[in-house]
Amino acid sequence: MCESKCVKTKTKYMEDYNGLATGFHRISSLDRLSRIQKYCDLTNEEVNLLSGKQPLSPRIADHLIENVVGYFSIPLGIGVHFEIDGESLFIPMAVEETSIIAAASSTAKWIKKMGGKIQTQALGRRIIGQIQIPKILNDQKTEIILKRLNEEKNNLIEKSNRFLPGLLARGGGVEDIEFRVLKREDDEGSMLVIHLLCDPCDAMGANLINQVCEGIKPEIEFITGEKVGLCILSNLVDGKLVQADIEVPDVDVELAKGIEEATVFAKTDPYRAATHNKGVLNGIDPILIATGNDWRAVEAGIHAYASRSGRYQPVTDWWREGNTLRGRFVAPIAVGIVGGVTKVHPVAQIALKILKADSAEKLSRVCAAVGLVQNLGALKALSTVGIVKGHMQLHTTNLALAAGANVEEKPQLKERLAEVLRVEKCLNLTRAKEVLEAFRGSRSEGVSL
Ligand code: MEV
Repeated sequence: MCESKCVKTKTKYMEDYNGLATGFHRISSLDRLSRIQKYCDLTNEEVNLLSGKQPLSPRIADHLIENVVGYFSIPLGIGVHFEIDGESLFIPMAVEETSIIAAASSTAKWIKKMGGKIQTQALGRRIIGQIQIPKILNDQKTEIILKRLNEEKNNLIEKSNRFLPGLLARGGGVEDIEFRVLKREDDEGSMLVIHLLCDPCDAMGANLINQVCEGIKPEIEFITGEKVGLCILSNLVDGKLVQADIEVPDVDVELAKGIEEATVFAKTDPYRAATHNKGVLNGIDPILIATGNDWRAVEAGIHAYASRSGRYQPVTDWWREGNTLRGRFVAPIAVGIVGGVTKVHPVAQIALKILKADSAEKLSRVCAAVGLVQNLGALKALSTVGIVKGHMQLHTTNLALAAGANVEEKPQLKERLAEVLRVEKCLNLTRAKEVLEAFRGSRSEGVSL
């Protein structure tokens, strides 16, 4: 009885999503908001904040940074047609680049239409805090220090956690300590780097772990008899990876081969890998920004992880199994849903609500999934029609505005620019200005375009 009721509720929920997502790009932004409000239970106040009807208080900016003079606004859009781990989600994306949201949405729609699946999982929970002992001049001394530190390891874990009573109560905290001996790059002996491995629960954890590292610095100096250098988290969070997998059945063999081949290009050539990964980050960064997360930290982590073999590599892989196309993303995405900007910025809170992100882990899994979908969209276009057509078509609005078109002129100029692009296969600001001038000239002469 319960089972059939649950199935029914789930089906209704899916129907609602599909109905709300259909034609999303064709309706007005207010209609979009009202659809999101329905699906995500947003309050009227939240809708007013998103629409800009209720401006953000200048005090929030003052809480966040120094020397505030105002806000720099970027658009917040919604990625649609995403079904991640069986859950239909609207994806809030704050981004300035044309075509990212359109490409993500149309690729997610294609995956769904093909009967594909997007699945994610977290691989590990531990972030890393580094405590550095810069220089130990001989191996014998290093051995003695390592022995002392190993003897004191449990004691150090316990002392570290004294700085984290709240986190400990939530089930997190420092769980292990590792000692790494590195040969100094300047050949002046060794460097000892102590890693505190900490489960930050729903926090990104930078502030927590930095405080612990600095907090136990005197203890480390006492145990080792050495001066501690830097105490800071590492953004190469390889103990807290996230994986996303996409499986698309019955894919056209030529298309699947093209996507596979594009991945081989990225694996072979770091110049291509950089652009390949940029395409992945096109999907991830906008979610990080919308949810108030530190996207610079995630970028640093992903690029460092991409270089872990000594050569810069793509963070996604695509391959064929028969007619099935499979893709995988694995990299660190350390995010939080408590603390910092996430807590203070009301729009970040709304973005988390839209995402139904009730844990940092879920947020990181969604980021990985959207990054992988975004990457698929780019590779699908690049290995078939190319990227210029779709991107430039959407970019005509920006060019029309940048060329100086007023509200009245914009729709016609956009049409004209699309035509120029179709015929000349190339469009830039100089050409857009020429087209606008010609348009104005023809209007003043009473000629319609
Ligand atoms: C552009 O923002 C992103 C792409 O260059 C990614 C890629 O080449 O894979 C299209």
